[in-house]
Formats: sequence, C-alpha cells, structure tokens
Amino acid sequence: MPSVVIVGTQWGDEGKGKVTDLLAARADVVVRYQGGNNAGHTVTVDGEVFKLHLIPAGILNPRATCLIGNGVVIDPVVVFQELEGLRARGIRMGELLISPRAHVIMPYHRLLDQLEEEERGAGKKIGTTGRGIGPCYADKAARLGIRVADLLDRAALRERLQQILPFKNAVLEKVYGRPGFELEALVEEYAEYGRRLAPMVADTSAYLYQAVREGRKVLFEGAQGTLLDVDHGTYPFVTSSSATAGGASVGGGIGPTLLDKVLGVAKAYTTRVGEGPFPTELCNELGDRIRERGREYGTTTGRPRRCGWFDAVVVRYAARINGLSGLALMSLDVLSGLEVVRICRAYRHRGRVLSDLPADVRVLAECEPVYDELPGWGEFPPKIKSVAELPPQAQRYIEHISTLVEAPVVIVSVAPERQQ
Ligand code: IMP
Repeated sequence: MPSVVIVGTQWGDEGKGKVTDLLAARADVVVRYQGGNNAGHTVTVDGEVFKLHLIPAGILNPRATCLIGNGVVIDPVVVFQELEGLRARGIRMGELLISPRAHVIMPYHRLLDQLEEEERGAGKKIGTTGRGIGPCYADKAARLGIRVADLLDRAALRERLQQILPFKNAVLEKVYGRPGFELEALVEEYAEYGRRLAPMVADTSAYLYQAVREGRKVLFEGAQGTLLDVDHGTYPFVTSSSATAGGASVGGGIGPTLLDKVLGVAKAYTTRVGEGPFPTELCNELGDRIRERGREYGTTTGRPRRCGWFDAVVVRYAARINGLSGLALMSLDVLSGLEVVRICRAYRHRGRVLSDLPADVRVLAECEPVYDELPGWGEFPPKIKSVAELPPQAQRYIEHISTLVEAPVVIVSVAPERQQ
C-alpha cells in the first residue's frame, strides 16, 4: 500500500470510516483533504463506537500521523472537542498536524448556512448539515476567507477581519435583519483558538511530499461522496468541496502522479441525507426495514437517511470519475433475509434508456430505474472471514455489481466490527 485514496461512490455515508480504520492500521500517514465537520465517520473497535467528524479516523492508530490538509474547512472548537473526547476515553492517539492554508469556519458561516437554508424555503432546501461548510468555501473562492495561518497572528487576524466583517455584517443586517458580529470579540476568541492550535500547525503538503518520497504508506480519507461533489455531484444538491479522488491532490497538496490507487466505497444499497433526486429510493416498508437494520441515521445530524436499492448507474459513474482501482462493498448483511434483491442497471427517461448519469437534476428526478432482480439470501453465519463463506446468492449479487459498475470488488463488509 503506497498511497491510497478512499472515496465515497454514492451520496456519502458509505462506510468510509470503517475502511479507513482498517487500512489506517497499516498506514504511516492518514490525510483528510476536503469537507469539514459535516462528515461523520463511525468506527467500531472492540465493540466501542467512535464518531469522528473532523479529525481523521486514522487517529485511532497511535503509530500514524494524521494530517488535516489545505482543502479542509476547520471549526477549531470541533478539533478541541474531538481531541478531548478521545483523550477522556483513554485513547492513545497518533500525531495530528493541520495545514496553515486550511480555511476556518467562522460563526457567521454557521449562521449564514442556517439563514440561507431558511430563505430557500420548502422544496428548495439543500438540507445542509448547518455547520457553515458552504459559506466557508464560498468565502474561500471569493477571497474573503480566514485561514488557519491568520489565527496565529492576532494583529494580522484583526486586520483581515476589519476587511471582511463589514461585508458579512452588511448581509446579516440588510438581507436577514440580524445583528452583525463585533470585531474585537471575534479577534479575541479566534486568536485564542490560534494559540491552542499553533503546536499542531505545520506545512502538511511538504510533510506529505517527504513521506511519499521516503516510501511511507499514505492514506487519503475522503469525506461525503462522488454524488455530493461540487463539480460532479447532483448539483445544486451537493456539498461545496471536491469529494472525488482529484480532491485528494488539490486538498492534500500533492501532485496527482504521487497517488497510486483509488479505493471506492459503496454500500450494498443506497442512502441519501438531505434533499435532491434519488431514483432507487424506497418510500415504503422495505425502505424502513433497510433504515432500521442498517441503523441509517446521520452521524452528524441524527437525521433519518433515505434508503433504496443499489444504483449501478451511480456507482459506475463514480468508478469512471474517480478512476477506481477497486470497490469496497459495505453493509451486505443489511440485505440478508430478503426474498429478492434488486440492482438498478440503467434509467428510463421519457421512453429512452440511459446508462449514464444525466448532468441535469431535473432529468434525474424524472428517471425511472431499470432493475435486475436476483434471488436473496438468508442470514450470514457469524464471524465469516472470506467471500467464499457467503451464501452463493450473496456471492452472485457481489459479482453482478462488479460487472455492472466495471470495477473489481476487493473488500466486502458484513458487520460493523473491524475484522468483519
Ligand atoms: P453541507 O455539506 O452541510 O453543505 O450539506 C450539503 C449536502 O451534503 C446535504 O445534502 C448534506 O446532507 C450532504 N452531506 C454533507 N456531508 C455529508 C456526509 O458526510 N454524509 C452524507 N451527506 C452529507
């Protein structure tokens, strides 16, 4: 394992935390390269559940160095909370380094995220996590952002906020009729965060380059999923970062020729949180069954996830956009006990069959799934360790997915524990 990128191939929540944790046990460096605390990575170790939003799941390997790259947006309070939470549970952690180029989520970003959602109103909401992610990335692109480096120098932070705050306050006061933020209070609060972050701030891109040159094993931990990517996802129902494999290069600060493999993660069915079209969604008892068995409730917001059949059009698209080397198929056990299982192989749109994901969400919203139906299987024997031990119907299901998405299935997960 030289350098491996892990990406979600659906709408997030595919089980990337577990795959990362599995591979992180062998990694020297684990990198988060995009997103922020909108993510929620659940890892179960020895029956204990860990939920991480911002700190890489690799932190549970005390030998690994974890990096938060320049492409991530950071809420400092969340960094402290997660580190303290892990310390309180007696976890031995690896080193954590944070890029000075990463952008900081400010309180006005969180507030604007919520106000913008309210303003969109019913039917137009994106269903964001409300963590300030979109407004923070918007400021980054508009060159109105605060970076981690700015927090380390109180005078520079004040100067930066003196430029930026009038814009933010004008929007809050004039558009939303809300009071603005007070400059000195923000400077005090965020300079103090800077003081606490300072020991962790380092040039993560330079660190990464050196690590790769020395042949150390590097794991890039993607958050969200391909269909939530700001360029390639179901725009505008997306997050604001590059959740595809290319994001690892930009957001980790490493040239693309230094990335070796891309491992896609897919659930054996499909889920989505938030709004937006979802062709294979099951708004019935079967959808409820998958939600309950798969414990499909958001790690970050607790929202019930929408559930449906495996959509091979979506995952085939993800295999292409990410150049997948292989696929990890997660939560196969959730489908056990069903008489038949279905896989969407194509869409039907106004009489035409589409085998590729349409770019326009209005078209996607009108697509009807074309299903292949396969026989189901019973409950799995406990503690199985290889695909050969799975019922033949489950093996057939995996093979059919591999054929339809044009990528080899290299990992199958049948329960939450690391070994399973
Ligand atoms: P934001 O990232 O909070 O701006 O939310 C934009 C969209 O991405 C919403 O539909 C969220 O539900 C979705 N989203 C963001 N992060 C995650 C995640 O980690 N898993 C699943 N969906 C997510």
